[in-house]
Amino acid sequence: MAQTLTIRTPDDWHLHLRDGAMMEGVLPETARDFARAIIMPNLVPPVVTSKDAAAYRDRILSALPEGMTFQPLMTLYLTEATDPQDVRAAAAAGLISAVKLYPAGATTNSASGVQNFDNVRAALETMAEIGLPLCVHGEVTRAEIDIFDREAVFIEEVLDPIRRATPGLRVVMEHITTSDAATYVSEGNDDLAATITVQHLMLDRNDLLVGGVRPHYYCLPVLKRRTHRDALVALATSGSRKVFLGTDSAPHTTDTKEAPCGCAGCFTAPVTLPCIAHVFEDANALEHFEAFVSENGARFYGMPLNEGTVTLHRLDDAWTLPTSVTTGAGPVTVFDPGRPLHWRVTK
Ligand code: DOR
Ligand code: ZN
Repeated sequence: MAQTLTIRTPDDWHLHLRDGAMMEGVLPETARDFARAIIMPNLVPPVVTSKDAAAYRDRILSALPEGMTFQPLMTLYLTEATDPQDVRAAAAAGLISAVKLYPAGATTNSASGVQNFDNVRAALETMAEIGLPLCVHGEVTRAEIDIFDREAVFIEEVLDPIRRATPGLRVVMEHITTSDAATYVSEGNDDLAATITVQHLMLDRNDLLVGGVRPHYYCLPVLKRRTHRDALVALATSGSRKVFLGTDSAPHTTDTKEAPCGCAGCFTAPVTLPCIAHVFEDANALEHFEAFVSENGARFYGMPLNEGTVTLHRLDDAWTLPTSVTTGAGPVTVFDPGRPLHWRVTK
């Protein structure tokens, strides 16, 4: 068994950095191991115009500690008022790398999301024309649809019709959680890809709910049953170029997670690479680890592969994870995968 893994520096194709003191606290946790990340626009208020994206990018870069390099790949939050010309100009200027679709009400800070998809047709057609990817939070929000069914229903009722109506639209199904999504992306054409998170590869809904509710495992889309996790692991470790790492690392302060109505999101950034290495090792697929974390995403987005490397070592003794990261907004509990970690990033 390999004891050392040296791979191209990875990218995170789905990351929440927040803003202000929280951002300052969590940004180094990603910049340490990753060269680039797609930055989610669900701030309050959201990042909706190119002007907002430029200002947010500048705030991220000025929060980056001395000596660290990191490229934030900015996104716009799609609303029914999004101006297709603004999207076109921002993409042409290299300011944005994708546009994010949140169905209204689907998750944290998604109140400005799309309700009537007819009102975003022109923006989607512009994106198809210029080849700008649409990152999709794939859950319906209708009250009568069970939370565990929301992704599968979204694919059938919303995503597939959008893709049929907009040929050439490049789509990233983000943080997929079901075998339905795994099958849909596998069977799709080259304009379709998907990201998968750490927690959806390592956990299922029993981990969230059996023996007591574990608020730090609560995220959206919610963890599903074990068979779905198995399908995600099979896809991620298969070597398919259509899937890549998008952590959805989503920091909330510990008190807002451990609350009567706790926030959704797992803060995985500090432990991502060791966790993913274990997933691939368990599947006897370490030869596909680098493609998943460092190559497939860049290829889909049409970006150069990173030149640098990171090295992981497999230690005989498990290492002790940090329990939380201190930020100016308060402590943020670090994702605990519930198993010993032997892989560790050593550079
Ligand atoms: O668990 C989640 N947290 N899922 C999302 O889609 C949003 C994220 C957040 O912003 O906290
Ligand atoms: Zn997210």
